Amino acid sequence: MTNDLEGLHRDLAGVGGWLTEEEGDTLYRLARACTGRGVIVEIGSFKGRSTICLARGSQAGRNLPVYAIDPHRGIGYEDFKRNLAEAGVEDMVTHIRQPSQEALPAIGEEPIELLFIDGNHKYPMVLEDFELFVPRLVDGGYLVMHDTTSPFPGSKRVAEERVYRSRRFRDVRFVFSTMTVGQKVAANTLADRIQARRALYTKKLFELAVPVREHIPASLERLGRRALRGRSRSGASATGAR
Ligand SMILES: C[S@@+](CC[C@H](N)C(=O)[O-])C[C@H]1O[C@@H](n2cnc3c(N)ncnc32)[C@H](O)[C@@H]1O
Repeated sequence: MTNDLEGLHRDLAGVGGWLTEEEGDTLYRLARACTGRGVIVEIGSFKGRSTICLARGSQAGRNLPVYAIDPHRGIGYEDFKRNLAEAGVEDMVTHIRQPSQEALPAIGEEPIELLFIDGNHKYPMVLEDFELFVPRLVDGGYLVMHDTTSPFPGSKRVAEERVYRSRRFRDVRFVFSTMTVGQKVAANTLADRIQARRALYTKKLFELAVPVREHIPASLERLGRRALRGRSRSGASATGAR
């Protein structure tokens, strides 16, 4: 497993973007754990950093197709194509060069087993992504959202209202530094809701710490990241993600 991740980290070394190592590893593990009940969909690809994590994870698992939705109106498109080719994953990624609001027909009738939302971060747009795509996510499938902390009020609000405080997600986790993960279920349990609330407080604590982060000794920050990583790994193993 470590070797897989080391390979991924090498692939990502020259790829621009904001995904942390913990976040990339999480996408990789969730993609690798997909069982084939649906495809993998990403909203917002930029230069392909998260796309590569999803595609490499899928390659290590069931080889499920990855749909990468991004209109690539500004910068990023040429880098996206080159980065995917260099990582050797271009054949398994279908790029849908449209805004997410228009992209659903392009993935056909396929259900979704893993959905990553990281497109337009304004509240109505993130909410629309959630409302359009989450109904296509199979029960047992995972939703991952990026930039769910301040200063991203749109994605933060959707994650808090629709994932952390929801009755439709279990195994809800916060992954350093801005990521929210949850497994869709028909109905969660009280224990799931308590875990989700604890994850929300962890996220809020992290948000409070961000303004003072530059004053935190590096050793203490490393310790905090390790503690969060431990939590997200134990969540992944509990649900079958390797
Ligand atoms: C934060 S970046 C994504 C970063 C990427 N996930 C990564 O790991 O590097 C946001 C991307 O969303 C794309 N985007 C903006 N509006 C969108 C929309 N309506 N639908 C899909 N993608 C959109 C932008 O073109 C941009 O590339």
